[in-house]
Amino acid sequence: MNDTQILRFPERFVWGAATASTQVDGAVAQGGKSESIWDRFATDASRIADGTNPAVTCDHYHRHRDDFDLMRSLGVPAYRFSIAWPRVVPSGDGAVNPTGLDYYDRFVDALLERGIRPFATLFHWDLPQTLQDRGGWARRETIDAYLRYTEATVRRLGDRVKDWMTHNEPWVFSFCGHLYGVHAPGSKDLATALSVAHHLLVAHGKAVPLIREACPGARVGLVNNLEWIEPASERVEDQAAATRWDGAFNRWFLDPIFGRGYPGDMLAWYGKAAPHVEPGDFDVMAAPTDFLGVNYYTRRIIAHDPAGRDASERTFLSARQMYWPFVPRAEFDEWEVAPEGLYRTLLRVQRDYQPASLYVTENGTTGLDRPGADGAVHDLYRTRYLARHTAAVHQAIADGADVRGYFVWSLVDNYEWAFGFSKRFGVIHVDHATQRRTVKDSGHWYGRTARANGFPLADANATL
Ligand code: FCB
Repeated sequence: MNDTQILRFPERFVWGAATASTQVDGAVAQGGKSESIWDRFATDASRIADGTNPAVTCDHYHRHRDDFDLMRSLGVPAYRFSIAWPRVVPSGDGAVNPTGLDYYDRFVDALLERGIRPFATLFHWDLPQTLQDRGGWARRETIDAYLRYTEATVRRLGDRVKDWMTHNEPWVFSFCGHLYGVHAPGSKDLATALSVAHHLLVAHGKAVPLIREACPGARVGLVNNLEWIEPASERVEDQAAATRWDGAFNRWFLDPIFGRGYPGDMLAWYGKAAPHVEPGDFDVMAAPTDFLGVNYYTRRIIAHDPAGRDASERTFLSARQMYWPFVPRAEFDEWEVAPEGLYRTLLRVQRDYQPASLYVTENGTTGLDRPGADGAVHDLYRTRYLARHTAAVHQAIADGADVRGYFVWSLVDNYEWAFGFSKRFGVIHVDHATQRRTVKDSGHWYGRTARANGFPLADANATL
């Protein structure tokens, strides 16, 4: 196969693009929205690579209609976006903000008017700061606050939005935000990270039946970041280190939602830091779902290392990542470009967990894109990345993984959390000073691929 060939996917395969509220919306203090933990975290400029904050980002709050027009003109018929909890319930657990829900009402209508199918994520890390002030997700009561927010949102939008994701990447939120301290809220404690993760998974399990009740015909799932892990060598120590890494990143977040509780090897490894589990929690977490969302970016080669080498926070696994010379890496520090890892991950999840179905809910890459003299953005490296990864999905489907769709991360260059605007993941370039959008070559390629796959825009919702 070469990169210009277009592979045929199953007829109803969903082609989409993804974003998240903090990363694109801006308008952080408009329409009754309260401060989120990311708004607060970024007030300390030293925590963000370029010292920026999410106050404006892509101004998607005001410009989403234009962005949807662009999607339509490209031919991308599905959009995964996240709803901002602080916009819907500004106090965290009190009254619903009617302006916030009205906004999402119009937002969803604007998608449907253009024949674009909405996929909504309920929690993509923007906890209301007021709840963080009371302990955030480390506190069990936050589960109830999340459920109230979820119910209000789904009741209002559920007549039109049928695809719901409870959380985005519980691993990243709990570990980057509560062990490594590089994401909001910035704590550094393993037991806190594990208790946050536990509460997220219980909240997920409780939300599933609630969403079904509030939205007849709902399809509900959780989005996990999964990585393909390989031991650095045949040495027993390296194999054990890779198994631990897989346990911490993948199995800890898959086993319980598929009814197996926490993996025993990791419970033993975590020892006293393991979370408090209340009776019934594992049954709750195992609520049957309609799909698993897989965010895939990289594979990791793991070696045993009692010192953890690269960062002291990682010594919790006595392991480190290593890199082979000349394996291409994304401009994103640690990420090897490894489409075969996506293929293997999808087949592994299909075989080991048998989810009702799978979506690739995020996949993409970053580079130093900017318009050239001809005004275009020639990001051939991204087109190649997307071609190779969508081909991996195609092969995974052929070999038995029930993958129903693929969402490129991201629709637009956006606010990459602690990297600020220093990373560009979009298939559409954004000049953040002028808000000018330029479709990158990869965006044109992606649209062509979607259009060539028999998913006509006008029918996007008729096929639900
Ligand atoms: C994932 C996040 C997403 C984006 C990509 C690059 O971990 O879900 O918001 O930042 O990474």
